[in-house]
Amino acid sequence: MPTPMLAVFAVDLSTGVDAEPMPTLLTASDAVTGAAQRYLGGGEFKAALGETLLLHAPGGLRAERLLVVGLGKAKKLSPDQVRKGAGAAVRYAKPRGVRELAIGFPEDKALSDERLEELPCELTARALMEGAELADTDYDTYKSDRKDRSITALTVVAANTERSVQEEIRAGFEVGRVVAVAQNFTRSLVNEPGNVLTPTVLGERVRTMCGEVGLGCEVYSTEKIKELGMGAFWAVSQGSPEPPALLVMRYEPAGGAAEGSPVIGLVGKGITFDTGGISIKPADGMEKMKYDMAGAGAMIGAMRAIAGLKPKVRVISVICSAENMPDGLAFKPGDVVTAMSGKTIEIINTDAEGRLVLADGLHYAKTLGCTHLINAATLTGAIGVALGRLNAGLFSNDDATAAKFDDGLKASGEKFWRLPCTDDYADQIKSSIADIQNTGLTRYGGSITAAMFLKEFVGETPWIHLDIAGTAWDEEAKPWMAKGPTGIGVRSILEWVRGYGG
Ligand code: BES
Ligand code: ZN
Ligand code: ZN
Repeated sequence: MPTPMLAVFAVDLSTGVDAEPMPTLLTASDAVTGAAQRYLGGGEFKAALGETLLLHAPGGLRAERLLVVGLGKAKKLSPDQVRKGAGAAVRYAKPRGVRELAIGFPEDKALSDERLEELPCELTARALMEGAELADTDYDTYKSDRKDRSITALTVVAANTERSVQEEIRAGFEVGRVVAVAQNFTRSLVNEPGNVLTPTVLGERVRTMCGEVGLGCEVYSTEKIKELGMGAFWAVSQGSPEPPALLVMRYEPAGGAAEGSPVIGLVGKGITFDTGGISIKPADGMEKMKYDMAGAGAMIGAMRAIAGLKPKVRVISVICSAENMPDGLAFKPGDVVTAMSGKTIEIINTDAEGRLVLADGLHYAKTLGCTHLINAATLTGAIGVALGRLNAGLFSNDDATAAKFDDGLKASGEKFWRLPCTDDYADQIKSSIADIQNTGLTRYGGSITAAMFLKEFVGETPWIHLDIAGTAWDEEAKPWMAKGPTGIGVRSILEWVRGYGG
């Protein structure tokens, strides 16, 4: 049986700004080149990233259709372009009823050795698999006329038959599948409406997932939060009839970890709906605030991937989940609450709730023995103002720790931009009646103020804060990904953790 669709990649070899595009196939197959290269000139196809050109009944090939997918400029070639290209192939095939897809592994004679070095085999295979899996997801679970059009068989064709190459490709696929399944799990949680995914339901889903992949899991609620003295977390929770959830996931490497080795703490903001509370948000766009648990989602997905890839390092994840609601019992501006660390906080704005739940989550993670901390949160609208929807914000109190995170970005393909959180910003959160207040004196640098607040609760522990408010939800579909939850953070957090223990 001929395959219904074979997708192959092409790059643009041209270099100058005004240069005519020079689309070239990334294939070692003469048959593919023979069938398609002659259609690539003349400007119809420029090999831009995610661009597609479909040929029916390609001569000399056992495929009903040949899809050429652009990866952009050859000069910028990276595994991430392959991730997006593979995604574009899947998203082209799906709505056209193609359910069995073959993809040609990017190989080439036309590229210089230097460019090809940018496509290490295992990482490229991993990216290809991730891109295909991530693209195969559509958020139509609540549509009554939904039709499952997902890809049922994905075949990858690699001309290089050397055993070591084939093994690297296979290993890359295995990693890519684990990572993409984890990231898709995150995306499915983030997509859930607030009435479905309450903190309690989030706890149940996490417990089930942990059981499936072999992670330790503890699920707590109001009683434990009060017993631990988490006054900041409780303040946010108290306005909702839905009880909060404090979740702890644990990963232990096989054979245990050496005495004195690092314990990595992943802390997530899990606000399942953020109305703003008494400092209520405007109605316009408030429905989006169901994704205010995307930081927790990123940590949950990262833990799932960690369980699958088994790095040699201990990891503990703390998730603080609540609904932020206005109510007669809700916390109010002017209230003073005491965090688990003992610090007192004057509440200026109840909509700055994420930093309150994280303050207690970070402190708790330290008491559980974490030596290195990372948190993720849809913390501030200001991060979108500063960085747009492309880069997420990164803050850290330790250059070496931040550099380690940067090291993983090549494999993850995600974009994070570091912003300052030096002590000269501390004045912003001084309170006249308590130790600190939960918002800045002005709106300027709002994301930095929020980071400064978190910094108060990590002390000397090396720490990274990821503000993903601008990047956790895509308003527009991409050629390689449906619109909606992106699953940002999962891959980079995973790589950072692997950096501490393979
Ligand atoms: N959940 C929001 C931040 C947010 C904004 C997430 C847009 C996703 C998209 C957060 O709790 C919040 O409301 N922050 C306030 C802080 C302010 C009151 C200091 C904000 O960003 O306006
Ligand atoms: Zn808020
Ligand atoms: Zn929020």
